[in-house]
Amino acid sequence: MHSSETLSPATPLSPAQPTAQLTAQLSLQQVSKVFPGRDRWSDKLLKRTSRPFVALDDINLEVKAGTFVSIIGPSGCGKSTLLNMIAGLSQPTTGTITLNDHPVVTPGPDRGVVFQNYALMPWMTVAENIRFAVETVYPQMSIVQQKSIVQDYIGLVGLGGAESKHPHELSGGMKQRVGIARALAINPQILLMDEPFGALDALTRGFLQDEVERIWEQERKTVILITHSIEEALLLSDQIVMMTRGPAARIAQVLEVPFPRPRKREELDQYPGYHSLKAAMEHHLSCETRAVEESRIRR
Ligand SMILES: Nc1ncnc2c1ncn2[C@@H]1O[C@H](COP(=O)(O)OP(=O)(O)OP(=O)(O)O)[C@@H](O)[C@H]1O
Ligand SMILES: [Mg+2]
Repeated sequence: MHSSETLSPATPLSPAQPTAQLTAQLSLQQVSKVFPGRDRWSDKLLKRTSRPFVALDDINLEVKAGTFVSIIGPSGCGKSTLLNMIAGLSQPTTGTITLNDHPVVTPGPDRGVVFQNYALMPWMTVAENIRFAVETVYPQMSIVQQKSIVQDYIGLVGLGGAESKHPHELSGGMKQRVGIARALAINPQILLMDEPFGALDALTRGFLQDEVERIWEQERKTVILITHSIEEALLLSDQIVMMTRGPAARIAQVLEVPFPRPRKREELDQYPGYHSLKAAMEHHLSCETRAVEESRIRR
């Protein structure tokens, strides 16, 4: 895997936050996920049968602290399933997931999750949504400290002035910023993002990608980003994990992205190796997606 030795350690944005280790080394060993009793229509029996569904099989991955890793693969291959297990929201059927050598068993404040559907509390303002996360994770912290952290992260994601707005008063891009601020404000060691920009228009998406790159430059968290966008993965990542189609999806290949940082979107296609990396990803995705379609037609 790509070395992050040249990266400087992250600096906490607020002195109010704990100074524990700020980034995480992630390890997945022989991880599989089998969903029990998935109902299916059997063509021959014309009745529901229930058999286990193997979503992921033998996933092995080492992510160094401070590395930005994207996961890309055909729709339905198991990316969210994998991210949910890293978040501790569900357990692997076999294998182990560790963060800094500690097994992941439940969700925890060392992991910040940005959900695709925002998952904001509708009755709370921007500031309250973020503060709720901070006070849940740091109940011993004074209200003044909590508010200072909230304000820091509102500024970091460019939401200054929108503190008192409720989610229904925000655009999709603004809601996504609240989600990113909320995930970062608990000072997690690893940031897990499930297609955070998928629902946004191209302009907002580009703007938020640049924001995430800027924040990553500043914070150097370990990041796992699920995306369907080849360009997004090439712009942001140190490594790109390419998954096969499911069932029993695996990691097909891990690509190293050696482009210098900070990266400039408009210069991306001039970096040496850009076109061959892009072609490799396009080839992989089109082969896997075509195979999914063919197996659907055969069924
Ligand atoms: N709770 C569950 N029970 C049974 N099967 C499930 C469950 N959750 C997910 N699956 C199945 O596991 C597979 C992987 O789903 P997952 O949501 O992880 O895919 P994905 O790669 O995130 O897809 P997308 O790119 O469309 O978001 C799919 O076939 C899905 O139907
Ligand atoms: Mg998904």
